[in-house]
Amino acid sequence: LIASAMMLAPASVMAADLTIGFSQIGSESGWRAAETTVTKQEAEKRGIDLKFADAQQKQENQIKAIRSFIAQDVDAILLAPVVATGWDEVLEEAKDAEIPVLLLDRTVDASEDLYLTAVTSDLVHEGEVAGKWLVEEMAGKPCNVVELQGTTGSSPAIDRKKGFEQGIAGHDNLKIIRSQTGDFTRSQGKVVMESFLKAEGGANICALYAHNDDMAVGAIQAIKEAGLKPGQDIKIVSIDSVPDIHLAMAAGEANATIELTPNMAGPALDALEAYLSSGTTPPKWIQTESRLYTLKDDNQAVYEAKKGLGY
Ligand code: AHR
Repeated sequence: LIASAMMLAPASVMAADLTIGFSQIGSESGWRAAETTVTKQEAEKRGIDLKFADAQQKQENQIKAIRSFIAQDVDAILLAPVVATGWDEVLEEAKDAEIPVLLLDRTVDASEDLYLTAVTSDLVHEGEVAGKWLVEEMAGKPCNVVELQGTTGSSPAIDRKKGFEQGIAGHDNLKIIRSQTGDFTRSQGKVVMESFLKAEGGANICALYAHNDDMAVGAIQAIKEAGLKPGQDIKIVSIDSVPDIHLAMAAGEANATIELTPNMAGPALDALEAYLSSGTTPPKWIQTESRLYTLKDDNQAVYEAKKGLGY
């Protein structure tokens, strides 16, 4: 096992020698599908044998996959954790087996010594950027906001909610009147937005904050079917920067998005290789960038540029 050899700091461990298990959440969003594609590409580029397990949104499947990777004596495990809690036991098992675990895109509520590093964005900051964008956009005008949350119990749903609330704090013209999970999916985004529109009436909703773009895209459909103009009658801000939201922005049907790179695996594998070859311990958090796109950007061009990047 290469992971146990790392204690002796071997002169070099070639990526091509590595077998790595990847426990992916599923394929709930366009962003998630792109992360899977990019992770496979990054592994292939480095000659890594990547064992891929799709958990179909279930933590129990992820735990099973991790145990199976441990039984196969892999060199490392990449884990995109569906929810934040409930990982201690299985992460202890990986630690006992001396298999480093690297978290991708979401964090866990577990002791830091149970994983090597976490490659994520600042999830609270993303929500805060969305909130601050809306504060500026409304410039003091009253605005009732509806919120589509991500998967219940997941770190992005928890942190993006908190960040948005921080972003609008002190601006009493902005009120979150409804907030419900849409599970990060396009279909649930549509269903829940329909229920918001039915309960409130379109005229009472001024803005939508969606924890990801896919839910926003589903909501755009619901808004149109209700005879309203998304992006105008209801302002829309969301997170991910997937090609489809840029297409919607180019058409004036969405207003802002905050970019999340689907390439979490690149920095994770760089850190792993350095760790295994020279014993370099990575920081516990490798932070990816969060960039705000608005209607001031050339969204058609962004759409064209992004289409090939794993989406
Ligand atoms: O953890 C990242 C989030 O998970 C993305 O923003 C969302 O699209 C995905 O499902």
